[in-house]
Amino acid sequence: MTAPSSAPFGAKVIDGKASAAALRQRIAAATEQLKSGHGITPGLATVLVGNDPASEVYVRNKGKTAEALGFRSFHYAMAAESSEAEVLARVAALNHDPAVHGILVQLPLPSQIREAAVLELLDPRKDVDALTATNAGLLVSGRADLVSCTPAGMMLLLKEYAGDIAGMNALVIGRSLLFGKPAAQLLLAANATVTMAHSKTRDLPDLARRADILVAAIGRPLFVKGDWVKPGATVIDVGINRIDAGGGKTRIVGDVDYDSARERAGAITPVPGGVGAMTIACLMRNTLIAASLQAGLQLPAL
Ligand SMILES: NC(=O)c1ccc[n+]([C@@H]2O[C@H](COP(=O)([O-])OP(=O)(O)OC[C@H]3O[C@@H](n4cnc5c(N)ncnc54)[C@H](OP(=O)(O)O)[C@@H]3O)[C@@H](O)[C@H]2O)c1
Repeated sequence: MTAPSSAPFGAKVIDGKASAAALRQRIAAATEQLKSGHGITPGLATVLVGNDPASEVYVRNKGKTAEALGFRSFHYAMAAESSEAEVLARVAALNHDPAVHGILVQLPLPSQIREAAVLELLDPRKDVDALTATNAGLLVSGRADLVSCTPAGMMLLLKEYAGDIAGMNALVIGRSLLFGKPAAQLLLAANATVTMAHSKTRDLPDLARRADILVAAIGRPLFVKGDWVKPGATVIDVGINRIDAGGGKTRIVGDVDYDSARERAGAITPVPGGVGAMTIACLMRNTLIAASLQAGLQLPAL
């Protein structure tokens, strides 16, 4: 267990950066073994359609991290006006490329390309974002090898900082396919008693006050107030919101009002540097898992 640092008011600050760095080290070591023992180099392909600056940064960071861990990284930049057929042809080619074990199509896609059509075609064994219906279904069945990256990162942090969560009340606010739904499934699989909340939920503060684990993935800055937090609860803040910081500047905040929440929480993720820091490392973990499975090897212990 990592020795947690303390916030001024007592909550442990969950250090996602440190946990992600430790995970990357384990991945690099397992990658070395895969190469030397089996001659396999994990390959991650990223596909970016258009030139949204934030997406370009995300994709570049993914490629850099892959290379730093000893993976092969392949990047396909496609024009914003690419047709759906062109994007599908790229995905089909990557599905069949034996050097590529993981495929990441950066979302959102331009409006002329249906995300559902892309996910339908994507080989579930290479679906390292775990967004295909096959991987979502396997997660519900308790048989998933590839799990959505940010929820997987959340579970690693909970394991490190909260230990055994069996029997705890967990509230997940937000029901996206990318985070809320897989997060709830993983918490359930870890034997938490899980409640899911969304924009139609009544009495959200009351529900939150009963949660031993409070997870916010809403996309609304500082939405969850400190007095919603059960004393001693573990708070996982998934939100990434850019707000005006005055003087023409902006800053990133989460969905939780961190300053008031940390006065009551037992442990809390900061934004940035909390659960978000785990996402890319978990993408690399998925790529390594995918490479091992495609070679018929046992899953590395990560
Ligand atoms: N790498 C990362 O760290 C990472 C990964 C994923 C997401 N995120 C961040 O997490 C946030 C959520 O993203 P997402 O993609 O998971 O979700 P999303 O698709 O943006 O959906 C937001 C969810 O919040 C719910 N919601 C909205 N207003 C609400 C309210 N007033 N009370 C209760 N629930 C409310 C919505 O309910 P309805 O379903 O009823 O509309 C919906 O389920 C964003 O800030 C995103 O940037 C970060």
